[in-house]
Amino acid sequence: MSTPWIATVLTIFPEMFPGPLGHSLAGKALERGIWRLDAVNLRDFTTDRHRTVDDAPFGGGAGMVMRPDVIARAVDAVRARGAPGPLIYLSPRGERLDQTIVRELASGPGFVALCGRFEGVDERVLEARAFRELSIGDYVLSGGELAALVLIDACVRLLPGVVGEAASLEEESFAQGLLEYPHYTRPQEFEGRRVPEVLLSGHHARIRAWRLERALEITRRRRPDLLTARAVAACCAAREPGAAEPRPTASTERDPP
Ligand SMILES: C[S@@+](CC[C@H](N)C(=O)[O-])C[C@H]1O[C@@H](n2cnc3c(N)ncnc32)[C@H](O)[C@@H]1O
Repeated sequence: MSTPWIATVLTIFPEMFPGPLGHSLAGKALERGIWRLDAVNLRDFTTDRHRTVDDAPFGGGAGMVMRPDVIARAVDAVRARGAPGPLIYLSPRGERLDQTIVRELASGPGFVALCGRFEGVDERVLEARAFRELSIGDYVLSGGELAALVLIDACVRLLPGVVGEAASLEEESFAQGLLEYPHYTRPQEFEGRRVPEVLLSGHHARIRAWRLERALEITRRRRPDLLTARAVAACCAAREPGAAEPRPTASTERDPP
């Protein structure tokens, strides 16, 4: 069996893992050994009898700061036992997570994620161990654990063998630089709203072109910042005449949409 992708998580709440990742596709892939999770308790690297991981900030101010020495010992220990991949500190001031970063991390051996709590982490350990800071969005969570779960989930579903149909990964939002087109299933009519005729036509080239048009329209309306020349060119190419001839499929209630 090939080496699993490994997520190592440094946290004061290891019991939060795998949490939701123990279910559904990620959970099955965990059971099958496609990926591995090592949730490490930062308190195991403290030296006092209270197992203290934080202290008051120099310079004053509200809240507590996580100690650099405790974190450094935890990082060095997991590295010594072979935890692979980059060191990532989940942080609201980090680089904004997107599908490009997810793809990059999923194609590597895994990562070591540090979950902050309180006011955050002493800056010196971030510098000394060269952490990459990643944010899951412009809002503040009370801890990095949920952010780590989000990051792990986004990566795990890209690992080979996790999602049944690889095509669904190729067509989803961000894969082609566009948001995804709308989906429809049975019934063909719902509260007076009909499934767009083209989707019942069996004409695969027209369906593909329609989906790209819708994806382009939704992206232009909701996220114009995502529109790249590549995405627009893909859409124009699909509009070209001479695409594949229609291959009719039946479009009754019983047939797959
Ligand atoms: C209460 S927050 C600290 C916020 C910090 N004082 C600030 O203003 O940037 C505690 C921890 O939650 C995590 N966190 C909060 N928001 C996050 C986000 N948007 N993305 C990733 N991690 C986040 C970080 O690990 C952070 O150290």
